Amino acid sequence: MINSIDSLYLHFPFCNTGCNYCDFFCHKSKSLTLLDTFENTLLRSYDKHLKFLAQYNKTLNLDSLHTLYIGGGTPSLWGKRGVSFLCEQLGLKNLLPSSCEFTLEINPKKFSSIDLNLWKSIGVNRFSVGVQSTNSKFLEILGRDHTHQETLECLKLLSKENYSLDLILGLPESEKHHRNILNEIDELLKFSPKHFSVYILTPKKGYVLKDKIPADELIAKEYLKVSEHLRANGFDHYEVSNFALNGFKSKHNLKYWQSKNVAAIGPSATGYFNISDVSAIRYKWNNKGDSWSVEELGPEELSLEKLYLSLRTDQGININSTEEQVRSRIKIWEKKGLLKITGEIATLTPSGYLIMDTLLEII
Ligand SMILES: C[S@@+](CC[C@H](N)C(=O)[O-])C[C@H]1O[C@@H](n2cnc3c(N)ncnc32)[C@H](O)[C@@H]1O
Ligand code: SF4
Repeated sequence: MINSIDSLYLHFPFCNTGCNYCDFFCHKSKSLTLLDTFENTLLRSYDKHLKFLAQYNKTLNLDSLHTLYIGGGTPSLWGKRGVSFLCEQLGLKNLLPSSCEFTLEINPKKFSSIDLNLWKSIGVNRFSVGVQSTNSKFLEILGRDHTHQETLECLKLLSKENYSLDLILGLPESEKHHRNILNEIDELLKFSPKHFSVYILTPKKGYVLKDKIPADELIAKEYLKVSEHLRANGFDHYEVSNFALNGFKSKHNLKYWQSKNVAAIGPSATGYFNISDVSAIRYKWNNKGDSWSVEELGPEELSLEKLYLSLRTDQGININSTEEQVRSRIKIWEKKGLLKITGEIATLTPSGYLIMDTLLEII
């Protein structure tokens, strides 16, 4: 039986300048030759990708997508050219159902009302903005290419839209420059965001500012303060790094956390689909965007991965369906305040989210 995948991730691999902490695959310039190569390769690979899915009896139809996510890099930089490409070359125009959650990642630099209307005209109905910090000192430390003023102008434009903000915790020199993350959040709340993604800085290999990153205890305090503050302001802490007002969880990202099918195209993008109840395929595109490697997950890998992913979100796990080994741990975690049990469902508390990687190591 042919089964349609109804979520798609597309990776746009270009940024204005590279931020010093970031390890996502992106070219630091948007040269026309590189853009041409990217678009031509994407077009050629699109059909090859459909044939790959067909080998597993899967299809991908733009006219029945439930979620579409264009990430990067900084896909808002694709602008008018990107909108034309998506409509005319990929055939997005008039195909996408109006119910599709269509997210675009943007950077506050040079995002104008013209850009906003352009992307909305092809169905984008959710924006994800890389703010990272509202403090100019930290924008400078991170090598961000936008000013605080540009962030404010961008958010003013978006204040009536469905949008999410990215912030980063555990920034280099946080103590030296007295970072006050709660004041930053209060400033941002004035622009009515519906969703926050708050990441703890993951230093990339050889990160030049690694020695200036605060101690783990300080980062933990910052994380727990943020969780408490956002919850006090009506946001649900629904995943380790994600907070949403009622009705505004990311439908696309929930698919990853619920081990549902998400196809992917573009350099470095990762796709996933189930091929039976006990096996799945994960595939990762190379940085040229012209082919991908395939990994098949068997029953054991899949069950561990499902456990891990369920614990990442407030969906939690059903205690009765877990193995004895996990159940005995659950009691210990509950006593330590890392987990709470409601009926048959166990979910991590914010303190549990904070150390979930080490929690699972001791299963
Ligand atoms: C791929 S970026 C897209 C947003 C856009 N390019 C921008 O930065 O404005 C997605 C988010 O990942 C987060 N991020 C990137 N590198 C990170 C790192 N090393 N540690 C923690 N978060 C990181 C940032 O919050 C960033 O906004
Ligand atoms: S703009 Fe976004 S994707 Fe580009 S380097 Fe900075 S954080 Fe990474």
